[in-house]
Amino acid sequence: MRALFCYFSATGNTKKCIDLYQNYLSLSGVESDIHNIDDGKLEFNPEDYDMVFFAYPIHGFNAPENVLKFAKTLKKCKEKKRLIILKTSGEHLRINNISSYSLIRILKRRNYYLTNEYHYIMPYDIIFRHTDLMAYNMYEALKGLVPLDVKDILDNKIVKLKYMPFGHLLQIFMLIEHPGAKINGLFMHTNKNCISCGLCEKACPTKNIEIDEKGKVHFKHSCLMCTRCAFYCPKDAIVFGLFNSWKVNGKYSFQMPKEEEVDKHKRYCKNSYNRYFKIAEERIKNQK
Ligand SMILES: Cc1cc2nc3c(=O)[nH]c(=O)nc-3n(C[C@H](O)[C@H](O)[C@H](O)COP(=O)(O)O)c2cc1C
Ligand code: SF4
Ligand code: SF4
Repeated sequence: MRALFCYFSATGNTKKCIDLYQNYLSLSGVESDIHNIDDGKLEFNPEDYDMVFFAYPIHGFNAPENVLKFAKTLKKCKEKKRLIILKTSGEHLRINNISSYSLIRILKRRNYYLTNEYHYIMPYDIIFRHTDLMAYNMYEALKGLVPLDVKDILDNKIVKLKYMPFGHLLQIFMLIEHPGAKINGLFMHTNKNCISCGLCEKACPTKNIEIDEKGKVHFKHSCLMCTRCAFYCPKDAIVFGLFNSWKVNGKYSFQMPKEEEVDKHKRYCKNSYNRYFKIAEERIKNQK
């Protein structure tokens, strides 16, 4: 059996998830290949695989624009192809269930049929920085859940997220995030801390950043608002347009913190996080 992963991960969370998937599939004898949507053209032929995974971070209750664009470039499969969607996001609100509706529609026209969809909670790369403890707990939950979900997939168990009434309409409305990202991009610039290191230019998935011969950083018109440039900038020098106060800079360690942290957001979506961790804990415990 063979699996193909097509993924986009702006700041590494979704990549962490598919690395675990690839590892557990391999332990069960399933070979897989990975296509990073950043890299443009697909070098693999989906016809050669028994299942195709699409993995992405939820952006504005939707799949990012580049993921939808990539899906539209795929040819129609000759026979029905098994589709599995993996998505990560910063909170466990049920409204996030709608995020794949456009993607599923696009892929269905190309003969891909959804059998499984999983949503994992990972730390925010926008809005605010989760504490190290929260990021650690999220990753621990992910590590516990992935082997169970891989088992379900290999046992051909169908797992879909709960349908949201009027979700299709809401999801179409939410596509407003895509032009919104481009508008925000017009207001992005760098501050005096920029050292013209070129990292943001290299990292941008849409080649939206250019550094001129004087070392000045220019943002063009195809921003996805994916936050990668601002997240990884070593000098925290990017002013993230109209959403600058939501900027998160610097990788998460995903390690258990050595010292107690102040959690300024401990009340934020508290019940929904608790519910997610409780469900994860019970599933992991029951499996053992
Ligand atoms: C523009 C943007 C919009 C986002 N919208 C949502 C959202 O609607 N719901 C949510 O739970 N998280 C949202 N997030 C948070 C990301 O989905 C989350 O941090 C994700 O795990 C990042 O994955 P990545 O590191 O693979 O890019 C958003 C992030 C960005 C950058
Ligand atoms: S990554 Fe940061 S410091 Fe480096 S060129 Fe870009 S904005 Fe400047
Ligand atoms: S400019 Fe920054 S936020 Fe916009 S697409 Fe490029 S890396 Fe992502």
